[in-house]
Amino acid sequence: MKILYGASLLPYNTFGVEAVADCIVRYSSVDDLAEASSMLSAGKLPEPFLFVGQGSNILFCRDFHGTVLHSEIDTLETVSGDQEDTVLVRAGSGRIWDDFVAFCVANGWYGAENLSAIPGQVGAAAVQNIGAYGSEAGDIIYQVETFDMNSGQTGRLSSVQCRYSYRDSVFKHQGHRSEAVTHVTFRLSASKALNISYRALAEALSGRDTGSLDAADIRKAVISIRSSKLPDPSVTGSAGSFFMNPVVSRDKLDGLKARYPEIPYYPASCGELYKLSAGWLIDKAGWKGRSLGRAGVYEKQALVLVNLGGATGEDIYSLSQAVSSDVAGKFGIELRPEVRIIR
Ligand code: EPU
Repeated sequence: MKILYGASLLPYNTFGVEAVADCIVRYSSVDDLAEASSMLSAGKLPEPFLFVGQGSNILFCRDFHGTVLHSEIDTLETVSGDQEDTVLVRAGSGRIWDDFVAFCVANGWYGAENLSAIPGQVGAAAVQNIGAYGSEAGDIIYQVETFDMNSGQTGRLSSVQCRYSYRDSVFKHQGHRSEAVTHVTFRLSASKALNISYRALAEALSGRDTGSLDAADIRKAVISIRSSKLPDPSVTGSAGSFFMNPVVSRDKLDGLKARYPEIPYYPASCGELYKLSAGWLIDKAGWKGRSLGRAGVYEKQALVLVNLGGATGEDIYSLSQAVSSDVAGKFGIELRPEVRIIR
């Protein structure tokens, strides 16, 4: 375990904003977490604590007065499948997400390939239920192992107990927020099982013989779409989509369709609800490529806010407020941030 005091959070946020944490604890085992938990309760580490992986979904608008807990549990192992044709892979929460995806694809295991090249760590993927191109992490999660910083207890949750939904899980809610994810076990298919239902992915693969496609082909196509729409995190600071796609009633959708017949929408997972594209709304409101100070709306995908160089967290937050109040005024829709804002 490594403990750093008064440490910069620059390496721990993909927006690339400057902020300082009173303390950063880098842990590489459950024993390390148990020690950090004891130190927190004895007042030897500052409260409150905050779990931060690669920081690809967080915006620091101020310094963090407390302890940042950063996972370096980096294990990756295959455990025997629970059924014929399935493979269980257990990864440490600090493993880079895309390393795990690349490992599955290289072995010819199906289920993770649509989630290629998403920045972040395995543990955060299980908390946030990351999703892209028609798949979500929750679809392939079999079990999540946890350590509760308050009680000092370890736990195991099945995928059902994690209550996955759109960018959500129990770990984001009261009663589970003190739990660190330590390991995640994924269930993958050893036989071919492609998901090319997402329109942009189907278009990228049109003209290909679907029967001959494999996980590596899907990974390649996803990486290519992502690089055409999303900024390279190693060059431009961002946290991917800043807002969630809003879910609206049939009535609301009908009202919008009457004004904007071309508006994209998709049936939401339950009931008579429809998901709209926040990117489309922001684009239609005229924000694509615009900037406020050193924060900008990405020119190729309006749902992504970017650090144009030297932006503060407050610059990016102000831009997000201006965008969401304009969208609320024009369409009557409240955009909810996907990014966690520390303010
Ligand atoms: N659109 C516009 N203008 C824009 C951006 C989008 O008109 O500037 C339209 C597109 O033409 C398309 C629709 O909006 O009709 C949807 O766009 P896209 O396929 O790019 O996806 P998204 O809904 O904007 C979501 C996820 C992304 C994920 C992609 C692909 C959320 C909040 N975002 O974006 O996830 O990669 O789908 O599956 O659900 C992330 O969470 O950080 C993220 C990048």
